[in-house]
Amino acid sequence: MKKAALITGASSGIGAATAIEYAKNGYFVYLMARNKERLQEVAAQCRSGASIVSCDVTDVAALNKRLDEMLTAKIHRIEVVVNNAGIYQTHSTEEGTDEIWMKQFEVNLLGPVRIVRAFFPYFKEQGGGSIVNISSTLGLRPGGSNSSYSASKAAMVNWTQSLALDGGPHKIRANCVCPGIVDTPIHSFHHLDSEQKTITLEKMKSLQPLGRIGTAEEVAKAAYFLGSDLSSWTTGAILSVDGGINLT
Ligand SMILES: NC(=O)c1ccc[n+]([C@@H]2O[C@H](COP(=O)([O-])OP(=O)(O)OC[C@H]3O[C@@H](n4cnc5c(N)ncnc54)[C@H](OP(=O)(O)O)[C@@H]3O)[C@@H](O)[C@H]2O)c1
Repeated sequence: MKKAALITGASSGIGAATAIEYAKNGYFVYLMARNKERLQEVAAQCRSGASIVSCDVTDVAALNKRLDEMLTAKIHRIEVVVNNAGIYQTHSTEEGTDEIWMKQFEVNLLGPVRIVRAFFPYFKEQGGGSIVNISSTLGLRPGGSNSSYSASKAAMVNWTQSLALDGGPHKIRANCVCPGIVDTPIHSFHHLDSEQKTITLEKMKSLQPLGRIGTAEEVAKAAYFLGSDLSSWTTGAILSVDGGINLT
């Protein structure tokens, strides 16, 4: 059976780049997100084969159905899950309604928790597997205007380490990537006109010791390293891929 990886949030940004990176390395990829058209565009760039799993990770019934179909089909040997789907909302402390907090945690944490819960018995039965959680530098060092996002990503870091402890005896590895600032549609600056964007990016450069923001492909390489056998003796690791911003 061909080795495969499930990548969530594969319709855009870091998830799309990660899917393409796994495909380049011979993996069949399951591409999960809501936007089917964008998933099809990514699938077309995955030469090792791809299957579109159109699903909202907050729709529990639909998600469970999709996971069940994937895990019982036994067409491929799914070795890796990359929990990448995420949303980012800024708000002041007073503006942080229950609804905002719940939404951040539903997408950024509970979606991944549900996926991993379904995968654990499958990984145990096949003798191992690898989980890569895409957190954020904000999960290590929060910002003042993004508390619900930062807290959801901090929870993801801590949860990854629980998974590493629980999964270790079953050869299930769990690791975390904490990206810094990457130019993707998740950021409002991504949608600025080119002049405004250049000004904004210039200002951001100085925040990173390496003097620039990152690319989705640079994060994808880390997500590939931690998911694949290249990191076969690594579990519970929290890898910052952030141009050094976490140190400033
Ligand atoms: N870009 C950065 O600077 C940065 C920094 C640190 C961490 N991160 C993290 O990296 C991950 C990827 O973000 P990105 O920068 O690549 O942003 P992006 O381009 O906006 O991608 C977000 C992805 O998540 C999917 N998604 C959102 N809500 C979903 C839902 N309810 N169900 C299923 N899929 C959903 C989106 O697909 P659909 O809209 O098609 O559903 C999209 O594919 C996120 O977890 C983010 O927090 C990003």
